[in-house]
Amino acid sequence: MFVLFCIFVCASAGRFTTAKHVMTGQPHEVPANSTKVVTVARFAVVEFNKANTEDQFSYKIVNITSAKIQVVAGINYILDVQLGRTVCKKSDTVDGEPCDFHSESKELQCNFIITEVPWEDLRVLTRKKCHEHKC
Ligand SMILES: *[C@@H]1O[C@H](CO)[C@@H](O)[C@H](O)[C@H]1NC(C)=O
Ligand SMILES: *[C@@H]1O[C@H](CO)[C@@H](O)[C@H](O)[C@H]1NC(C)=O
Repeated sequence: MFVLFCIFVCASAGRFTTAKHVMTGQPHEVPANSTKVVTVARFAVVEFNKANTEDQFSYKIVNITSAKIQVVAGINYILDVQLGRTVCKKSDTVDGEPCDFHSESKELQCNFIITEVPWEDLRVLTRKKCHEHKC
């Protein structure tokens, strides 16, 4: 039994040390402009807009200032994103992408965590923490 356990652990340990840049559990920086990061960031903004009862206008991305991924039971995308209020009403679009920024500008600084479980075809916004961004 113990021998079996050791074989398993040693084999796992070997696998993790060879896969040096996929450190399980450890968040690591990824390019903020990668297609994947932009895709999940837009998903987060749509969810944010749907839930944002404080404003009738849709927000859209101004800048993604930090992007990290963390491999857990799935993949966490940990993003810092600046959002800006657009002229579009949320009743017309929850994706502010095609819209101009509002002249009564309002910027938010948000920390989003988007969790993806690819093999379950699942994507959820598991954290959204935003505060008004003052320049
Ligand atoms: C991301 O930004 C880097 C540095 O600015 C640039 O070299 C790269 O081409 C960009 N990648 C994409 C997918 O836009
Ligand atoms: C976006 O954020 C990055 C990282 O903070 C910064 O280097 C870059 O200048 C910003 N771009 C814009 C258009 O604000």
